[in-house]
Amino acid sequence: MTEIVLNAPRARGLFVLTAHPEGCRVLVERQQARARAAFEKPLDAARGKTVLVLGSTTFGYGSSTAIALEQAGFDRIIGVGYETAPVFRGEKLAMSSPGWYITDTLQARAGNHVTYLADAFSAETRDRIVGDLRARGEKIDLLVYSVAAPRRSHLGQEWTSSLLVVGEPLEVLGLDFKSGELKPITVGAADPLQIEHTRRVMGGDDLEMWVSALLYAGLAEEGMKVAALSYIGPDLEPLRRMYWEGALGEAKKHIDATTRALDSRLERAVGGSAFTVMNPAVVTSASVAIPAMLRYISDYLGCAETGRGQYDDPLDVGIHFARTLYGEGEPWREHLDEAGRLRLDQHELEPDLQAAIAELWSNQQPGVPDEVTRAGFERFKRDYARLYGWEVDGVDYEAACTVDPELGPERSVIDLLASDEMRDRP
Ligand SMILES: NC(=O)c1ccc[n+]([C@@H]2O[C@H](COP(=O)([O-])OP(=O)(O)OC[C@H]3O[C@@H](n4cnc5c(N)ncnc54)[C@H](O)[C@@H]3O)[C@@H](O)[C@H]2O)c1
Repeated sequence: MTEIVLNAPRARGLFVLTAHPEGCRVLVERQQARARAAFEKPLDAARGKTVLVLGSTTFGYGSSTAIALEQAGFDRIIGVGYETAPVFRGEKLAMSSPGWYITDTLQARAGNHVTYLADAFSAETRDRIVGDLRARGEKIDLLVYSVAAPRRSHLGQEWTSSLLVVGEPLEVLGLDFKSGELKPITVGAADPLQIEHTRRVMGGDDLEMWVSALLYAGLAEEGMKVAALSYIGPDLEPLRRMYWEGALGEAKKHIDATTRALDSRLERAVGGSAFTVMNPAVVTSASVAIPAMLRYISDYLGCAETGRGQYDDPLDVGIHFARTLYGEGEPWREHLDEAGRLRLDQHELEPDLQAAIAELWSNQQPGVPDEVTRAGFERFKRDYARLYGWEVDGVDYEAACTVDPELGPERSVIDLLASDEMRDRP
């Protein structure tokens, strides 16, 4: 294992290439403490249950949901994420993912956690997990689908998703991450093939295969729930066009259709349910590259910072999710909308907040944005750095730290990417 001082991130363009192990550890432990405080005692309906979280390894929704469910009373957390070991060039750390360090912390007291570092889209991963569940005599009570990927390959076919609009190209003032200024941008229109590719990556195909595999193998526990995380977003026109009415929205509509079909199937097979969960927008690495999304999230954060709305971070949402699903009296049933989707995005869509954001969009010119947007952008930059373990208060970035902790079976980490041909696929 290598100890070095890592006092600044390496970056390529907008993308952070090196995460900070200590920063990630501190943030995971703070999340665990927050979740412990949120659940003074385990929820009766969650006790002893087993969850499979696909896409469990980043500071996005996967790890937060897993942390919240554990503190809510789940007995066993099985995670899957696409993470590879830190890479060195000579003595220098060239690349390291936050997911490697998040997994290191989550698995520190392995206990009831097991994490597969694997391509969730591959049949080999499914077969391996199904085999392991059988061998351990375990069944799944809850499947959380939280994979977000730019590419998917299945049986030799490759698909790439895109963030394009459908119909006419979109002209909009976006926020430029580098300069912090508003700049006119054009979001191109997806052709039918690009829409189909996006649907194949981020739609419901893969989810359907996971649920089928569990049902066929008899590994779906009585009453099993399937929750596919999704986003619908506000009515603000550029956002609607970029997201719900864009190529990604086509994929999300496919997830909706898939969960509706799975709902009837699960109900018949094990008395279970499936639904999409509409989560609120949060700070993620993807938003940096989409200037219109960056502007919207900065406005959202800016409004929340100045007291005109509430921003929920992924752990707030994870806690809300656990309470809604397993609180007394099945509260989730009352949170379903007319299309059968579980809504956890109320704070983001609150009319006063959306009116304030719409006002920020209605009369700004290219150049330096309004002070609310600027305040939100500052918060965005800090939260973005923290996705990689940087800018975490209390962490000494001048102290040496182990940058390549080993993750293996002794920590209940099953690394299917370390050795095999899957590694370069997604
Ligand atoms: N970020 C948002 O603002 C937001 C809002 C609402 C809903 N959502 C939804 O939540 C879900 C998760 O998004 P996120 O923002 O947490 O994403 P994220 O990028 O933070 O996490 C994605 C996870 O998927 C894993 N992953 C990617 N490719 C994989 C593969 N081939 N095999 C195994 N694991 C793989 C990653 O390792 C990671 O653990 C998505 O469906 C997204 O649409 C996100």
